[in-house]
Amino acid sequence: MRKTIVILCIHIALYAKVMQGQTLQPEYYRDIEPLIVRHCIDCHYDGGPAPFALSTAEQVKKRAGFVAYVTDIRYMPPWKANPDFGVHRNARVMTDEEIGLIKSWVESGMKTGRPGKKTKSKKAAKNISEPPNTVRLFMSKDYQIQSDRKDDFRFFYLPYSNNRDEFITGIEFIAGNKQRVHHSRIMVDTSGMVAGIDGLSEADTSIYRYQKKPLADEFLYGWVPGNFTFRFPKGFGKKLHKNSGFVLNMHYSPSALKETDKSSVRLTLEKSENIRREVKTFILRENDISNKPFYIPAESERTFYISSGIIPQDLSLLTVQPHAHLLGKSFRAFAITPDGDLIPLIQIDKWDFNWQTTYEFPRLLHIPAGSVIYMEGTYDNTTANPVNPNVPPLDVGYGWRTVDEMMNLIFYYTEYQPGDENLVLEY
Ligand code: HEC
Repeated sequence: MRKTIVILCIHIALYAKVMQGQTLQPEYYRDIEPLIVRHCIDCHYDGGPAPFALSTAEQVKKRAGFVAYVTDIRYMPPWKANPDFGVHRNARVMTDEEIGLIKSWVESGMKTGRPGKKTKSKKAAKNISEPPNTVRLFMSKDYQIQSDRKDDFRFFYLPYSNNRDEFITGIEFIAGNKQRVHHSRIMVDTSGMVAGIDGLSEADTSIYRYQKKPLADEFLYGWVPGNFTFRFPKGFGKKLHKNSGFVLNMHYSPSALKETDKSSVRLTLEKSENIRREVKTFILRENDISNKPFYIPAESERTFYISSGIIPQDLSLLTVQPHAHLLGKSFRAFAITPDGDLIPLIQIDKWDFNWQTTYEFPRLLHIPAGSVIYMEGTYDNTTANPVNPNVPPLDVGYGWRTVDEMMNLIFYYTEYQPGDENLVLEY
């Protein structure tokens, strides 16, 4: 009898301890791993775009203080849009509770706990076989990346030469050399006049020869690490005109190593009979600036204002993407409807050249005819801008090169149809 009571007491004590642990002390497998899987593992896996993996309890514990810090200051997961101004489907934002949980796990001594049955600590291996309906276009040859410890900005031309119009429903950039490819931008040309750009450095001023006339699509897709495949909702597609070619604007990180890269682009194509809605691109550019010229003198900060003018037809927006280079500081874009309502589109309080993303709306966003879209952008060309490419600063104007500046607002849209606001988009 006494033995039973003792055992019972031990059990109660243990149970109380467990309960206490559950309510007070977060454990890795139960509380933290789900957060890491949801918010970090897309990039922080072995061989992924981030510099180290966070796939196991040991790996996370090793950097736990740092993990708590970068989430607390909202540096990670990287997401530049202000969540209070516009809603985006692909937002990577942690709640205050989630951030607090990581912090208290670190402060309470990082208990590991037991792996649950459903533990998913590793990202599934990427499917490397070519999916159906896709074509993969490679750079024509291995490019020898500069090994002078400087950033290397290049253009490459990928001929495609389709002999009829097609529809793109998805696009993926596949970095050849993952360590060195920092980001890339994919543009489409139909003029057949830019093949000579292949391999050209941005520092080569002959580049200006190719930018006299805008390309068919200057912003088909912008890739940063972790911005994997871009896909249009089911039934939506973007027309790829016949005789298209692709221009890759590549940025390679500095290194002293002699390395090469051969990146590629994978397009998912669909027959036109399967496309219900055609996606088009609408771009506001430097020409739409109301306080021209677009010119940022050395040691100055300038704010520019772009207006679309009155939009003549109803639009349904799928995405928005601001674009600028290293002097960008903050951006905001919104629409004002004929009734005077403000529709928030995007706000980036701290522009980061390295994390430019296509911001997707969760549903089609209706912009009624008669609306005006506005964008304001501030540029910092002072020495106080830590990423100013010129030390001391130089006067900067428009240009494709990273040391020049741009101010664009790019939309994927489709013509509005009644009921679009409630359409559930499938991906
Ligand atoms: C979209 C991809 C992506 C996601 C998602 C992501 N990271 Fe990162 N992370 C990176 C890249 C790329 C770097 C290296 C470049 C840098 O430091 O900005 C990095 C760097 C870091 C660093 C080092 C920072 C430094 O200053 O050296 C830490 C710590 C980190 N990430 C933690 C996390 C945690 C924790 C999460 C999830 C809450 C997360 N990351 C989500 C891509 C990502």
